[in-house]
Amino acid sequence: MSALFEPYTLRELTIPNRVWMPPMCQYSAAPEGPLTGAPNDWHFAHYAARATGGTGLIIVEATAVSPEGRISPYDLGIWNDTQVEAFRRITDFLKTQNTVPGIQLAHAGRKASTERTWKGGEPVGPEAYGWQPLAPSAVPFQEGHPVPAELTVEQIRETVALFADAARRALAAGFEVAEIHGAHGYLINEFLSPHSNQRDDEYGGSYENRVRFALEVVDAVRAVWPEDKPLFFRISATDWLEEGGWTTDDTVRFAAELQEHGVDLLDVSTGGNASGVRIVTGPGYQVPFAARVKAETTLPVAAVGLITDVEQAEKILANGEADAVLLGRELLRNPSWARHAARELGAEPFVPDQYHRSV
Ligand SMILES: Cc1cc2nc3c(=O)[nH]c(=O)nc-3n(C[C@H](O)[C@H](O)[C@H](O)COP(=O)(O)O)c2cc1C
Repeated sequence: MSALFEPYTLRELTIPNRVWMPPMCQYSAAPEGPLTGAPNDWHFAHYAARATGGTGLIIVEATAVSPEGRISPYDLGIWNDTQVEAFRRITDFLKTQNTVPGIQLAHAGRKASTERTWKGGEPVGPEAYGWQPLAPSAVPFQEGHPVPAELTVEQIRETVALFADAARRALAAGFEVAEIHGAHGYLINEFLSPHSNQRDDEYGGSYENRVRFALEVVDAVRAVWPEDKPLFFRISATDWLEEGGWTTDDTVRFAAELQEHGVDLLDVSTGGNASGVRIVTGPGYQVPFAARVKAETTLPVAAVGLITDVEQAEKILANGEADAVLLGRELLRNPSWARHAARELGAEPFVPDQYHRSV
């Protein structure tokens, strides 16, 4: 039996295999009007294709808990019931294909209000549906970027409540896994790292103060997310800074705390919070970060980043470096990667009835 195609049970949920799709923004929702932030035909076709392709779990792209929490004006959102209804169509379909629907709940913090990546990704103002970003401290991501407004303690509390509301809506929309986006230099990551968090109140300064917001979000989400359903947290294991940033040691320490607060799996990415850092990428370059958390804690982990090859993916699991793998760009290139991988490994491929003549 291949490790990739061994089902995986977290709480009461069984995911049919370990080939998962990580969140990937499509920047394809309406930026204004009644359908703002709601998934549409593009999102349906995009996620449906990866489901018919045999992906065990699909984590829907960063979905904003509030309009200000979008990376771009074209992001998905889950702050109203119109959005919930639109997501239902996708989650219902994924379930018919034996794929578990997950969703990443996100707030973009100081990296909000930017153009779509294929249009350059630069910050935009009101002339292009933009707004002033919010952050732990009034420090821009990089020179030339707008200075974000520093959140008051009251606004921090409101933002925690927004995550809980979003989780409640995600449940109503039919999702079975919720992932809190704590990575890539967005709001939660900005609080964690001393590079972006320069507050001198109870939300900044010491390690304990910097992780406070993240743990409050986890607690608020866990309180509304059912006991029988798993909660994931995506982290940037390192800022890739020589000093003055969030480190892998911090990640290992924090992983244990997340588990105590009811997180079931850490989705281990890196970077995105500090501009201008050098990151040497290559096949599986982030796997060692996941492997370290797995070796030094009891929290399950998923590995992500340039995992593209069947043998490579199988080995990551067989070596005990991670409990699941996430394939991003490779699944954009090849939506049926999981089916091909199953065949190659001699496992039972998931084939929709309509495609039985292609088995
Ligand atoms: C088009 C695109 C959109 C992405 N959007 C998100 C996102 O919404 N949330 C997130 O945490 N990561 C996002 N990422 C990062 C991916 O989830 C993944 O971690 C990254 O692409 C590395 O994996 P890969 O080498 O398999 O593509 C995005 C990546 C791509 C290519």
